[in-house]
Amino acid sequence: MFDQDTWVSNPPFFRLFRFNIAVFFAIRSHFTPPQSMTVLPVEKTIVPTTVDFTKLPSPCFIMEERLLRRNLEKLHYVKEQSGCTLILALKGFSLYSTFPMVRQYLDGATASSLHEARLCVEEMKTLAHVYAPIYLDAEFEEMLSYACHLTFNTLNQWERFKNRVTAYEKETLNKISCGIRINPQYSEVETEMYNPCVPGSRLGITADHFGETLPKGIEGLHFHTLCEKDSYTLERTLVHVEAQFGHLLHQAKWVNFGGGHLITRRDYNPDHLIALIRSFQERYQVEVILEPGSAIGWQTGYLLSTVQDIFDSQGIQVAMLDVSFAAHMPDTLEMPYKPRIHHAYQEPIQGKPTYRFGGMTCLAGDFMGDYSFDEPLDIGDRVVFDDMMHYTMVKTTTFNGVHLPSIGVWHEDNYFELLRSYGYETFKDRLG
Ligand SMILES: Cc1ncc(COP(=O)(O)O)c(C=O)c1O
Repeated sequence: MFDQDTWVSNPPFFRLFRFNIAVFFAIRSHFTPPQSMTVLPVEKTIVPTTVDFTKLPSPCFIMEERLLRRNLEKLHYVKEQSGCTLILALKGFSLYSTFPMVRQYLDGATASSLHEARLCVEEMKTLAHVYAPIYLDAEFEEMLSYACHLTFNTLNQWERFKNRVTAYEKETLNKISCGIRINPQYSEVETEMYNPCVPGSRLGITADHFGETLPKGIEGLHFHTLCEKDSYTLERTLVHVEAQFGHLLHQAKWVNFGGGHLITRRDYNPDHLIALIRSFQERYQVEVILEPGSAIGWQTGYLLSTVQDIFDSQGIQVAMLDVSFAAHMPDTLEMPYKPRIHHAYQEPIQGKPTYRFGGMTCLAGDFMGDYSFDEPLDIGDRVVFDDMMHYTMVKTTTFNGVHLPSIGVWHEDNYFELLRSYGYETFKDRLG
């Protein structure tokens, strides 16, 4: 049995993707904290941290290496005990300086675009599993050169590209295992934005598109219907997958159960998942593939910000930050959800100093609140947003011309390494 007590809890949040990169400064850095700065103690429900936030640049995404390893160990346990293939979904976590560590525990990565596939090959040093809703004519051969598995969203896409797969295999002698994404029309994801089984879904095809046999050349089936769910949701989903696609599962070499398995959340029961995978593999004689994203970066890092201004707005204390919810934490507004802040009470408490946090863009809705604290905030105080490693970091933008937060790692032996800082060129590069 996996020791659940070594894992810590936090409510589930939902994220999606996007990533910007610029100048590279791989240096070990030590920073002098501003004079007036106080660091706020960590609120009880947040994972205890060893990071010394007083020494870090602001704003900055900080990955705590120790916590990443802990997640990877738990994922590795599932992989070893179940015999499944377990790969990282790059759309959820692309901090590639950590890929050498990720590779010690996982089998590789899954990409959803040409650039992610290339990142997998260049930084994870292994060919990618690829699934994209569409493949593009102009980049298909390059995509093939990075792929070991290629899943098509529809039979149309497969028909359109299958001859090019065969030609590539003949020419290079590299085998690409092709699959089709299926839609079992069952998902427990409550938010429509994240539910791939809504009526008219564009993600995968329903059982009525297939005949009695898998199309010639198709070796795998892929479904992705979970989002931050447990193995009991997977179990209920498998009932629908098997009822609709059972005859095809018997013909497949592999079945990809997609992502959304929040294996590293404290209350997740990995042994139940292991039992499910084992029995599925036995029943259909297939390789099972899991491709979680969130579970890898779950509760492994922070977005550090600094209070720049505090003022009264019609009775509400507004604390302006050097980060933006719209540009740096877009899911907080899209989902929406209220991120946890170290040492803050998640909901306002009467009688305690209470603040609404303002982002640094001109968007009227670029704010989050309200939170209470035991002590009043000052300009220069640091505000640490929790659990900002999965999706948040890959989705940042330079909207409004704002800079991107720096990116750094707090290493296991307690020193900070600044990986990236961004300037004007990053903003300008995206514009014509
Ligand atoms: C096809 C596919 N696989 C894997 C994932 C990763 O999901 P998660 O980060 O929720 O584990 C996603 C996320 O959207 C996805 O679309």
